[in-house]
Order: sequence, then C-alpha cells, then structure tokens
Amino acid sequence: MRNKILFGNWKMNKTNDEALAFAKVTSSIVSLAKEHHVVLGIAPSYLALETLKMHTEGIIIASQNVHYLDHGAYTGEISIPMLKNIGVNSALVGHSERRTYDNETNEKCHLKIVSLLQNDMVPLYCVGETLEQFNNKLTKKVVEEQIVEGLKDLDVEKMKKVIVAYEPVWSIGTGLNASPEIAIDVISFIRQTIEKMYGKEVSEQVHILYGGSVKPNNIHSYLSSDEIDGALVGGASLEVESFRALLTAII
Ligand code: PGA
Repeated sequence: MRNKILFGNWKMNKTNDEALAFAKVTSSIVSLAKEHHVVLGIAPSYLALETLKMHTEGIIIASQNVHYLDHGAYTGEISIPMLKNIGVNSALVGHSERRTYDNETNEKCHLKIVSLLQNDMVPLYCVGETLEQFNNKLTKKVVEEQIVEGLKDLDVEKMKKVIVAYEPVWSIGTGLNASPEIAIDVISFIRQTIEKMYGKEVSEQVHILYGGSVKPNNIHSYLSSDEIDGALVGGASLEVESFRALLTAII
C-alpha cells in the first residue's frame, strides 16, 4: 500500500516571517499525519526553505524549482548543491506555471529529474493538459508525452522515488476541479504508461497525486480512491487551519 501524500505548493506567497509563523504551529498537524500514515510536504519560496527546514520536523520541504547544473553563470537560478546544503532533498519539476511562464519544456524537466535522482533527491514531476487540449480530447496524448519525455531512461530503482502530480492546467487556481472520475482515469493512464516504461513493480510504487483547486471540502472525493495517492494543493495550503482541514478530511 502506498502512503497518502498531502503536499502544499505556496508558489510566490508568504514572506519569511509568515513562513516562520506557519512553521511554528505545525507540530500537532505533523503528529496527526504520522498517526494516520499521511506524508506531508510543503514547497515554499526559495527564501523560506531554510526557515521551514529549521522550524519544522516531519514535513518534506521541497524547492519549487531547481537548475540541472551544479553551478555556473545562470543568474536567478539555484542549484542542487545549494538545496542539499540546507537539507532540502526534494524539488518540484515542470509545474504548469513554470511551463507557461518560464519555458520549462519536457526536455528541461528531464535534465532536472536526472540530476535530482543522481543526487538522491526526490523530484515531484507535474504534468497536465491545457483547457484547449482538454476540449480537443488531447489530454492523454499530452500527458503521455510529458511522462515519456520527462521520465525516460532513468535508473529503475531511482524511478521508484519519483512522485508524479497530475494537474490539469484549467483546474489550477480556477475553482474548476477535474471530476474525481477524470482524475482517476488520467492517473490510471499515467500508471499504465509508467508500467510500459519500467514494468509493473516500479509502476505500483510510484506515487501519483492530483492537483488543481483541491480544497478541504473536495479532497476526500479524490483521495478516497486507491488510484490517487495524494494531493498537490496551492491556495488551500497557505493557511494553517486550511492545511489542517485538508488533512483531517482524508484521515
Ligand atoms: P491550486 O494550485 O490548488 O491553487 O489550484 C495547485 C497547484 O498549482 O499545484
């Protein structure tokens, strides 16, 4: 059985002080999650990574992005050694906002995933179709390409560590959820695609999350399915009480 994962993506929200205030009141949430075998994660801004690392325990702290090279003339980027140096061992890759605004292609995502895995870090790889692609019934074609190109040629053992998040672009921050039926259908398809690439044993170990307008009042409809291993949550992960409510809704 795969553990359920509740992962917050704070995007460009919260000052360092606000992140610290959040971190200081998480211990009861962490205890509850542990008791129910739910894994918690938060991806804050770069500036709050170290704050969260220092003031939380039992939460995976992930970067929202990372460069695939260790160092060099890449203004504005951060590297894997920088993350490891402050104890951060996970990073989001290919979030749709980065695909849209920062030209994060499947190719680039692949390079980042390879570098992260080489450094024993956990990539949380985001995939999903736009509204136009959804309306043109291209969801599976797009998602298959993202999975095949992003996750190709990886070491089989390392592949088991990858977390995938299916996030339809049209449902992110819009309040327009993909129905649980759609989410289950696409997530099952992603698992089959991974099975074709890496075999059944690996595909059964990879965690696949749903993301897109997940709230305390709808999270249960996704996570009650065995197919969906967790949720990647933006807006509803920002306030402590809402984060706690997401957890209590699934335990
Ligand atoms: P949302 O964002 O929950 O605010 O829709 C999800 C995400 O972008 O990961």
